Amino acid sequence: MVESIVSDKKTIFSGMQPSGQISLGNYLGALKSWVNLQDEYNCIFCSVNLHSLTVRQNPELLRQNTKQLIALYIAAGLDPNKNLMFLQSDVYQHTQLSWILNCYTYFGELNRMTQFKEKSAKYEENINAGLFTYPVLMASDILLYKTNLVPVGEDQKQHLELARDIAIRFNKIYGETFIVPEPYIGKVGARIMGLLDPTKKMSKSDNNGNTIFLTDEPNIILNKVKRAVTDSDNQIRFDTINKPGISNLLSIYSSITQKTILESEEELKNKGYGDLKKIVAEVIIEEILPIQEKFKELCKNEDYINEILKQNAIKAQEIADKNLNEVYKKIGIK
Ligand code: TYM
Repeated sequence: MVESIVSDKKTIFSGMQPSGQISLGNYLGALKSWVNLQDEYNCIFCSVNLHSLTVRQNPELLRQNTKQLIALYIAAGLDPNKNLMFLQSDVYQHTQLSWILNCYTYFGELNRMTQFKEKSAKYEENINAGLFTYPVLMASDILLYKTNLVPVGEDQKQHLELARDIAIRFNKIYGETFIVPEPYIGKVGARIMGLLDPTKKMSKSDNNGNTIFLTDEPNIILNKVKRAVTDSDNQIRFDTINKPGISNLLSIYSSITQKTILESEEELKNKGYGDLKKIVAEVIIEEILPIQEKFKELCKNEDYINEILKQNAIKAQEIADKNLNEVYKKIGIK
């Protein structure tokens, strides 16, 4: 077993969908904070490939992206000897628990989920049942490992609240079973906005200069940031209502440099918008270039990634099996 998993440390679970490329939003809202938390907690990080099926995927690309996401986790600084990293589909207990928890989640609760409403508007031709019950599988991912803390971006807060409600409901009926998980949402970087439309979240499914991908070449990053929408009053100040574009650039800068927004405002207030964009592009490039290099190296060594996935899935199954059996006993399946 991974040493940390048997220690007294609290448990973290989080995951990312391997659908398409990973965005700067995914990195600053989630992955970067995972790296910072890995020493303090028992960490479990999943490539949630089953969640990706809620939107049509190219099978070959999905297979490739699912494993490459784990390579990206490692390239970003997650230590495979310290954290459990595996594929959601390799631990069948996630879907087993998901069916059970579906029976403890109300239609009305799922129907209120903002992400379901947004995605069903975006993928009008494919509003499948998986899209609707997506948050229950997410709750299962989390509750299965008796997770204390879930580091995510702000867009996942509502799903986290539902996971908490399901845990509380189940515990009330059957006695203490699940730990009620707390969200961990960073003060800066939890909601990175699109570069061309800074009133909407940066999304990995946008591909028009709105989104920076972790695999973008430096000149592409520079061009995307240069074209970012700003405003006409030439003041560098954080004000998401009146200056969403500038505020977003300040958030990106602060999140990467780990400065507060106030510190960044103070440091950059006398610059012009052109200089600000150059500075922001430079810190992004400096941050992600080493990740890209490591990622390319890791992708050459598929056997290494496969071995990590195999070993870690066995360890995750052990924990998941124990906790799922506890649920089976409580509800009368065993
Ligand atoms: P996914 O793959 O959509 O997003 C992965 C993580 O990135 C964060 N994120 C952002 N943060 C800041 N600014 C943005 N523009 C931005 N876009 C995305 C998300 O909040 C997320 O933390 N449902 C989850 C995956 C999941 C999961 C879980 C997470 C499945 N099971 C259990 C935690 C625990 C999701 O949407 O991932």
